[in-house]
Amino acid sequence: EEEGILDGEEGEGAQKAIEILVALGDINGAEKLVEISGAQISGVSYKTIGDAGLAFLSDWASKGARIKVPATLNPAGVDIERWKELNYPPEFAGKQLEILRAYEDMGATASCTCTPYLAGNKPGFGSTISWAESSSVIFANSVLGARTNRESGISALAAAIIGKTSLHGLHLTENRLGTLNVEIEKMPANEAEYAAIGYYIGKNYRGIPVFNNIKPSMEELKIMGAALATGSISMFHVRGVTPEYTDTKAERIQVGKEEIEETFESLSTCDDAEVVCIGCPHCSLKEVEEALRQKTDKEVWIFTARKNRDAIEKYRGNKKVIYDTCMVVSPMEEMGIRSIGTNSAKAAFYSLNLSGMDVKFDSMEGLLK
Ligand code: F3S
Repeated sequence: EEEGILDGEEGEGAQKAIEILVALGDINGAEKLVEISGAQISGVSYKTIGDAGLAFLSDWASKGARIKVPATLNPAGVDIERWKELNYPPEFAGKQLEILRAYEDMGATASCTCTPYLAGNKPGFGSTISWAESSSVIFANSVLGARTNRESGISALAAAIIGKTSLHGLHLTENRLGTLNVEIEKMPANEAEYAAIGYYIGKNYRGIPVFNNIKPSMEELKIMGAALATGSISMFHVRGVTPEYTDTKAERIQVGKEEIEETFESLSTCDDAEVVCIGCPHCSLKEVEEALRQKTDKEVWIFTARKNRDAIEKYRGNKKVIYDTCMVVSPMEEMGIRSIGTNSAKAAFYSLNLSGMDVKFDSMEGLLK
């Protein structure tokens, strides 16, 4: 069947997809392709893929490529329904909607979130999936016990079209064991410290860290995972959390006050920020409620999945809840914003390096105060 697809029996769109999977399988020494139960595709914002990406997707869709498994999308560059009201640039929004159309033509669901596991796409333990967003990949492997490599937008889309991925890397049990033994010297005081620890390890080490002495909440796991994945890490073990948790005698790393302070300093370039952005990765309902509850004079933008819309009270004044997009993949700089405050090391890193903005990195509580 696979050779038939490779010979073009299911059309040019599917042929192109399987060619990509076979090439990746060959590079990685995979024995075969395996079925996946779902996909999560990145490369959605016009800011990150541009006109070339839009042309590539439209061409693939026009070649008859159709997705075979449930597939959701990463954040886009605008709030799809309220981009006018929220002052997103019209030309940018137009291109963004064309990108979404190409994905929808192929059969993807435009849920546009980097926390699909909080928005109806939550794979079970042991599921084989093909996810591309690095923060959701690490969460799926480490917290849910699903299996995925860190795919590119293109390879996750190819896998969704064929309904399979190549069997290598984190799909194999032997590659999911811990390789770094992390000792945290002081229990993190808040989510930003979890993010700083993740960022420090991700920046300086490769492999699979094992944490034995932390007790993060779901939200802290999400923010620490995103920071670890800002480097090249795609899985971690936390005792009491990771379903496949095993201890390791491997290389020992100590992370203490000094490393955390150093990271806070490296991710902050200003003392105050024009807009406080909460929601990298996208906020859980609990985080949205917390951000809405805290009193502040600051302007606050809260990013979350559209799925949460009905559960969130419409907001008011200086706080906006924004769906489908985030502070990194939306054109904040084009909208005249020069500095943001964030509790996410990932958002801080990309806002500094991709968007060229100033950043204040701190906990949500600290930023809103
Ligand atoms: Fe998600 Fe955007 Fe952060 S895609 S992980 S909120 S950079």
